[in-house]
Amino acid sequence: MRLEGRVALVTGAGSGIGRASAILFAREGAVVTVADIDAAGGAQTVELIQQGGGRASFLATDVTDPEAARALVAHAVATGGTGRLDVAFHNAGIGLVGSVEETSPEDWDRVMAVNVRGVFLGCRAAVEQMKAQSGGGSIINMSSSIANTGLGRRAAYAASKGAVLALTRSMQVDAAPYGIRVNALLPGTIYTPFVQGYLRRSFQGREEEALASIRRRQLTNELGRPEDVAAAALFLASPESSFVMGAALAVDGGLTAGKP
Ligand SMILES: NC(=O)c1ccc[n+]([C@@H]2O[C@H](COP(=O)([O-])OP(=O)(O)OC[C@H]3O[C@@H](n4cnc5c(N)ncnc54)[C@H](O)[C@@H]3O)[C@@H](O)[C@H]2O)c1
Repeated sequence: MRLEGRVALVTGAGSGIGRASAILFAREGAVVTVADIDAAGGAQTVELIQQGGGRASFLATDVTDPEAARALVAHAVATGGTGRLDVAFHNAGIGLVGSVEETSPEDWDRVMAVNVRGVFLGCRAAVEQMKAQSGGGSIINMSSSIANTGLGRRAAYAASKGAVLALTRSMQVDAAPYGIRVNALLPGTIYTPFVQGYLRRSFQGREEEALASIRRRQLTNELGRPEDVAAAALFLASPESSFVMGAALAVDGGLTAGKP
């Protein structure tokens, strides 16, 4: 039980990586708040956790809303039973395919609102709580391998994930004196509804062919699973990573290590 007695929140936990992480955190003993804009997905995650004997509740949350970010922390503290928030995993995010010329200012703003403003607001609310409690806490922000390695037609998405990484490092400096650790996760391509939707929309009828080419990007010749990223999130959430601060943890099957 690597998170026994801990209180955690996970945004975007109604699907994919967030769901796998919420399930794993609960299995390791945490009381988990599942936050998502998608109520059906969030409720399903809670059901899966409870079926496994874990403790979790759902809070409908739009991460772009400052009040919702504060309410989320308050909910996690109120339901956690210890008066604390130990782990905040800011995972909610959206994708966008497009070069700079293909990206409208509205789409740019939408991606930045969820992926960057959402993480910023979550961090702001979590830090406020973690500063007020003894021993700090662990904040995990969802970046992407794209923050380090360019990928075509991802202008807004890449910029958003680069911003999350820079925010994480800068924020770590300010938060360190309070015992608060702030780390970023940089997954490669993980087979989730996020990637399934991209394949459907961008490669109608040629999904298998596209998937084969995406597989070749990794040194493993395979995509990652949500559970692979959840395991890394668990490490950053747990005290095992107490000397890991401001890190960019790649979980990408060697994508950014080099070409075969
Ligand atoms: N799947 C990948 O290959 C991959 C790679 C690198 C990084 N990531 C990042 O990991 C995170 C999770 O991705 P995933 O693949 O599990 O995606 P997903 O689409 O399966 O899940 C994302 C969840 O975020 C929720 N969400 C979207 N907007 C929201 C908002 N405004 N407020 C609250 N919740 C909101 C969605 O409802 C959804 O449940 C994202 O930040 C994504 O950018 C994914």
